[in-house]
Amino acid sequence: MNSISGSTRLISILGNPVKHSKSPSMHNNSFEKLHLDFAYMAFEIEAGKVEKAIEAMKTLKAKGFNITMPYKEEVMEFLDEIDREARIIGSVNTVLNEGGKLIGYNTDGKGFVKALEEKGVVFKDKKIVIIGAGGAARAIAVQLALDTAKEIVIANRTIENAKTISDIINKNVPKTKARSIILDEEKLKEELRDAKILINTTSIGMKETIDKSVIENTKILHKDLFVADIIYDPQKTKLLSQAENIGCKTMNGLGMLVYQGAIAFKIWTGIDMPESVIEDMLCESR
Ligand code: ATR
Repeated sequence: MNSISGSTRLISILGNPVKHSKSPSMHNNSFEKLHLDFAYMAFEIEAGKVEKAIEAMKTLKAKGFNITMPYKEEVMEFLDEIDREARIIGSVNTVLNEGGKLIGYNTDGKGFVKALEEKGVVFKDKKIVIIGAGGAARAIAVQLALDTAKEIVIANRTIENAKTISDIINKNVPKTKARSIILDEEKLKEELRDAKILINTTSIGMKETIDKSVIENTKILHKDLFVADIIYDPQKTKLLSQAENIGCKTMNGLGMLVYQGAIAFKIWTGIDMPESVIEDMLCESR
């Protein structure tokens, strides 16, 4: 723990639940290593109290805060400025307090892209298939489009939710072609044939459904496909095992989690998160 003094400034995470968040240890370890006079705290915010919590951050002159589920969209009403990418994505996970002016950013999609780049995966001018159409899918899909993916296909159980994302991309990032399809193995097989990356953003494969995968017939995969899952607990989902068995390179969700934090850290402090903290987080319970 870095030592807290009379001049230490607060940075926080607001959400519900927040008890299991890995962000406090990641940021406090970084502050300590770099001798920065900040302290990071998690606050559980009840429904209907988001505006009050944000006012409190302003009153307390917090340097900034993360905002997590379920308030990433609601928070936008209470900010003074929202950066372009967060506006297109339609949600904010990081806020900077610049002398009383609150500026919102979204580092989730950027965190995913950074994790991909760290793995050496080239996605520019490539086709990407994303399964699921929730908030995480939206942040990832928009960021990949902004960073010049050629084509993005969103496959989802509820087609309307997929269409919301492909419409956002086609309207705001017309250079990337976005389409939505219903989640169906025959259709997925067709789309995956000439795709470079497959990303699972659904919760299928998490603890409660650990023996399940979004894909039943692994023949629809091919070995040149890079397969990513945004789940990090367990670190190897059934989908990633299936993919590895047929020779695909894979990535779990730990990188996205760590790099969204590292990008937020840079927004608040202007300094890169120490490599050693990033490494420790990425290696955790490997
Ligand atoms: P987040 O905001 O964290 O991305 P979310 O909003 O709950 O999470 O989104 C989860 C996505 O996973 C949704 O697109 C959901 O499909 P629907 O849009 O049809 O609700 C998808 N999903 C969750 N459980 C699923 C399941 N058992 N089968 C197929 N899709 C599932």
